[in-house]
Amino acid sequence: MNRNNILITGASSGLGYTMALLYAQQGKNLALCARRTERLEELKSQLLAINSDIKVEVYALDVNDHDKVFEVFEQAKADFGSLDRVIVNAGMGKGASIGTGYFHANLQTAQTNFVAAIAQCEAAMGIFRQQNAGHLVTISSISAVRGFRRALTVYAATKSGLTSLTEGIRIDVMNTPIKVSCIHPGFIKSEINEKVEKVPFMVDTETGCKAILNAIEKEKANAFVPSWPWAVLHRILRMAPDSWIRKMS
Ligand SMILES: NC(=O)c1ccc[n+]([C@@H]2O[C@H](COP(=O)([O-])OP(=O)(O)OC[C@H]3O[C@@H](n4cnc5c(N)ncnc54)[C@H](OP(=O)(O)O)[C@@H]3O)[C@@H](O)[C@H]2O)c1
Repeated sequence: MNRNNILITGASSGLGYTMALLYAQQGKNLALCARRTERLEELKSQLLAINSDIKVEVYALDVNDHDKVFEVFEQAKADFGSLDRVIVNAGMGKGASIGTGYFHANLQTAQTNFVAAIAQCEAAMGIFRQQNAGHLVTISSISAVRGFRRALTVYAATKSGLTSLTEGIRIDVMNTPIKVSCIHPGFIKSEINEKVEKVPFMVDTETGCKAILNAIEKEKANAFVPSWPWAVLHRILRMAPDSWIRKMS
């Protein structure tokens, strides 16, 4: 399927930024959203240097401003004529063990990764239903498959919620031209994990994003990427005793 007009949230760094670079090489038109617009402007210049034939627009967007999510997605649809794929990627990983006084950080993660994802999915699906076409992609995480402790407790819960949300949307539009995919990345180098020590099976951003783009292209319901080791490990993680999970985080 030729998905030419692609909107990415959280495009100012990490996975969103690198996905945009890879999509520019493929000749895709890009609608890029984030709060740090100076980074998006710099990215836009890079993308047009890679491929001057593509159209790139940047939009200031805090995904926690839900009205703005709808406004920006509609604006992007108007600017590009149609939206073929929306990648719900904006996310964060602040937080700490529940009951240790970091409620505000945990709440911010919950709002950004889950509540704001509902707004982004709602806005994207409204457009796709109107078009009777489109591909919704959510960027969940390998951590969606189990509960994890400490800083990952709320983060993993938001990603589990996002995976479930994506599944519900997919079942809703089954047998229609609208496709819905949930990507579960393992550990890929980016700002979100730059301060984390001892991360297993970490890959560089480009390797990770190439695996993500390949998985997105297949338009399957769920993908665990890079497939080695995560396509196997996610099954083991689901069954592992709590004591193993405790040692891991
Ligand atoms: N890297 C990994 O290993 C990994 C693994 C699994 C899942 N993921 C998921 O992949 C996604 C991208 O993460 P990343 O690794 O690329 O991290 P990152 O480098 O920290 O990038 C996060 C992006 O999200 C945007 N963002 C955060 N809060 C936002 C808000 N309130 N409004 C709008 N945009 C916001 C940031 O843009 P601004 O700050 O400019 O707004 C930034 O562009 C996240 O959903 C993350 O959970 C990452």
